[in-house]
Amino acid sequence: MRNEASEAVVSSVRAQAQGPRHVAVIMDGNGRWAAARGLPRLEGHRRGVEALRRAVRAAGELGIGWLTVYSFSSENWRRPVQEVSDLMGLLKRFIRNDLADLHANGVRVRVIGQREGLSPDIRALLDEAEALTRDNLRMTLVVAFNYGARQEIAQAARALARKAAAGLIDPDSIDETSLDAHLDTAGMPEPDLIIRTSGEQRLSNFLLWQAAYSEFVFLDLHWPDFDRAALEQAMDVYRGRERRFGGVRANMASNPSATAGAGAEQTVMTGS
Ligand code: FPP
Repeated sequence: MRNEASEAVVSSVRAQAQGPRHVAVIMDGNGRWAAARGLPRLEGHRRGVEALRRAVRAAGELGIGWLTVYSFSSENWRRPVQEVSDLMGLLKRFIRNDLADLHANGVRVRVIGQREGLSPDIRALLDEAEALTRDNLRMTLVVAFNYGARQEIAQAARALARKAAAGLIDPDSIDETSLDAHLDTAGMPEPDLIIRTSGEQRLSNFLLWQAAYSEFVFLDLHWPDFDRAALEQAMDVYRGRERRFGGVRANMASNPSATAGAGAEQTVMTGS
C-alpha cells in the first residue's frame, strides 16, 4: 500500500524533473561590473536592463512560467539621490520601450512592492503594464519594485488585524493560508529556484516568506553578464537537487535514519 508521504515525494520529484516553474532573481553586481571597467554605475544599471531583457527572453524559451526580478528594494532609497533617480528613470524607460514587446510575446506583468512613495507617473506606468498584459498566459514577469519582504509581511498582518478588529474574521482563524493570501504575491506559486548573481549569499529582504522551501543558486558573475547560458546552468544545478519539503528522500521513506547528514544545499558556480 502506498502511503501519502511517499506519494507527495514522488510528485515533488516529478515536478523537479520538469524544471523550475518559478525562478526568482536577485540581480546584483551592476555597480561592480561598471567599476571593473572604469564606467559610471549608471552604465552598469543600463547593461543590467539589457541582461533583464535577455533573462525574460530566455525564461520564455526555457518554459519557465514565472520569473520574479528584484528591481528596487525598499532599502535602495538609501542610495545617493542621483542613483535612485537613475533607477527610476530606467524602470520608466524599460516599461515604455519594452511593454509592447512583452505583450506581443504573451508576457503578463505583475508588480509587487509598495506603490505609495513612488511618483504618480511611475505608478501609472506600473498600472498600465499590469492592465495591458493581464490576460497573457505564456509567462508572468513579476517586477519587485520598492519591495521589501518584511514590509510585505507587516502589511499583511495589518490587513488581517483590521479585519479582526472589524469583526470580519476570528483572530484564531489566522493561519499560514490567510496570511499568504494577504501578501503581494497572493495567488502566485512560491519560487522554486532563487538565483543571486555576483557571489553574495544572502536574501536581502527578498521573498522571505515565499522562500521557505526555495533552492538557492549563487552565480559568480555580475548581473550585466547574465545570459541564457547562466540561466541554464542554474537550472541544471536546481534539477540536481532533491527537494524534500521537510519530508524524507523518496528512496529512503522506509529508513528515515539514512537521511542523517543531508543538510541544506547551496552551490556557487564560478567561471562562467
Ligand atoms: C544591484 O546592483 C542591482 C540593483 C540595485 C537593481 C537592479 C537593477 C537593474 C537590473 C536595472 C534596472 C532595472 C529596472 C527594471 C529598474 P548593485 O548596484 O547593487 O551592484 P553592486 O553591489 O555591485 O554595487
